[in-house]
Amino acid sequence: MKGALLVIDDEKNIRETLAKLLEEEGYYVKTAESIESSKKLIQSEYFHAVLLDIWLPDGDGLSLLGYIKTYLPDTSVIVITGHGKVEHAVRAIKEGAYDFLEKPFSMERLLLTVDRAVQEVLRKRLPKVEEEDLIGSSKPMLELKELIGKIAKTNTNVLITGESGTGKELVARKIHELSDRGNAPFIDINCASLPEELIEAELFGYEKGAFTSAFTRKQGKLELAHGGTLFLDEIGDMSLKAQAKLLRVLETKKFTRLGGTQTVYSEFRLICASNKDLREEIKKGNFREDLYYRISTVVISLPPLRERGEDIILLANHFLDKFSREYKKPAKYLTEEAKDLLMSYPWKGNVRELKNLMERLVILHTGEEIKAEDIRRLLGFSPKEDYETLFRYKDLKTAKQEFEKLFLKRKLKEYNYDLKKVSQEINIDLSNLYRKIKQYNINIDGG
Ligand SMILES: Nc1ncnc2c1ncn2[C@@H]1O[C@H](COP(=O)(O)OP(=O)(O)OP(=O)(O)O)[C@@H](O)[C@H]1O
Ligand SMILES: [Mg+2]
Repeated sequence: MKGALLVIDDEKNIRETLAKLLEEEGYYVKTAESIESSKKLIQSEYFHAVLLDIWLPDGDGLSLLGYIKTYLPDTSVIVITGHGKVEHAVRAIKEGAYDFLEKPFSMERLLLTVDRAVQEVLRKRLPKVEEEDLIGSSKPMLELKELIGKIAKTNTNVLITGESGTGKELVARKIHELSDRGNAPFIDINCASLPEELIEAELFGYEKGAFTSAFTRKQGKLELAHGGTLFLDEIGDMSLKAQAKLLRVLETKKFTRLGGTQTVYSEFRLICASNKDLREEIKKGNFREDLYYRISTVVISLPPLRERGEDIILLANHFLDKFSREYKKPAKYLTEEAKDLLMSYPWKGNVRELKNLMERLVILHTGEEIKAEDIRRLLGFSPKEDYETLFRYKDLKTAKQEFEKLFLKRKLKEYNYDLKKVSQEINIDLSNLYRKIKQYNINIDGG
C-alpha cells in the first residue's frame, strides 16, 4: 500500500472515479460526500493525505482544514478548486493545505500531486542517520554483501543474528538504504532498553488520556514506519503479550493506538535483530514460534570478528582513517607487530570494541606509528602479561612455563572459565588442565 487517502467530494461520479484510479495505483482509499461524514472518518481512521473539494452540500470544505489538523496533524491536504478560482487556492494554502488541484485536472497531475503529498508526510518523520560503509572482504563478508544485494529490493522480512557489536544494526540500515524505501523512514526500536509496559506504547502509540501520563496523542513506531522500514532490535526481549499483538499487526497491517478506536494502517518492511538464539527462546517458552516464522523469511547470521581474520586489519585501518579525519589528527599506521596482536586478540566486543580502540588510539596516541605495546596498554594488558617480558627470562624452561601460564590465564578468561571448553579449544585433557592450573596457582573463580 502506497498510503491511505480520503477523497471528499459531493459528486458521486468524481468520488468513485478518483477512488478507483487511486486504488489501482496501490493506495488505500475511503470516500465521503459531506462535511459531517468526513468528520466521522477523520476521527476514526488514519490518512496520509486528504483530497478535499471546496464546495460541499453542508458547507465550505475549507472549514474542515482545522478539523483535520486536530485529528491528523501530519496529514497533507490537497484542495480541489473550480476552474479559475485562484482566490480559493490561495486561501486554502494560507490556511494550511499542502497543495491544490484546479479542475479539470489530468490523471498524471493528480497522481503526481498525491504522491508528493504522501512523500511529504513521510519526509516530515524522517530521522537523520549517520551513514557508514560496511567494511570487509573476508569470505563471510563478501557472501553477506551479495545476500544484501539480493534481498534489499524485495520486501521480505529479515532476521539478523550475531554477537554484540558484530554489525547487526549497520546491516539493517544497509538493507534499508539499498531498498526502494531508501528515502522513506528507517524507524528503530530497541526492545531490550524499554520496560515491558513502554514497548507497547512505543510501538502502537497512544491517544490522549490512554493512561495518566498520556497528555497528548503520540504516534507509535509502527505508524511512523509507514512506507519505510521498521527495525526491531533485540526482539528476543519482547514480552509474550507484545509478541502476540505484533503478530496480529504483521498479519493485518492495521492496528489501533493504545486507548483509541481509530484504525491505523501501516505498510512497512520488517527487519529484526537478536543476539539471543531465538530457537532456544522458543524451547524455553519465551518466544512465539509462529512469530519466529513470520519474521525469519531470510536469516542473516553475522560471524564474530575473530572469525573474520583479514577484516580485522581492514576495519582497523578504516577506523584509524575515519577518526583521524574526524579529530583532525595526522594519519597513523600500524606496525606489523601491532597487526599481529590485533589478529590474535579475542575481540569479545567485536567490531564495536575494535572501533572504540581505534578511536582512543587516535585521540590518545601521539606520533604516526602505532606499536603493539601502544595497543596492549590501551587494552589494559598488565606488564606481566606482556609477552615482551618473557624475553627477560634466562633459560628456556622458565620462559616456556611463564608462557604456558600466561596462555592458560588468557584462554581461561576468554572462555569465561569454562574448563571443559578451554580444554577442548586448546586441545589438552581436562585432567591435564586441572593439574596445570594447580601447578601455576591460577585463580579460576572468574577473578
Ligand atoms: N562491517 C563493518 N564495517 C564498518 N563498521 C562496522 C561494521 N560492523 C560494525 N561496524 C560498526 O561497529 C559498531 C557496532 O555495530 P552495530 O551497532 O551495528 O552492532 P550490533 O550487532 O547491532 O551490536 P549490539 O548487539 O550490541 O546492538 C557500529 O559503530 C558500526 O557502525
Ligand atoms: Mg544493535
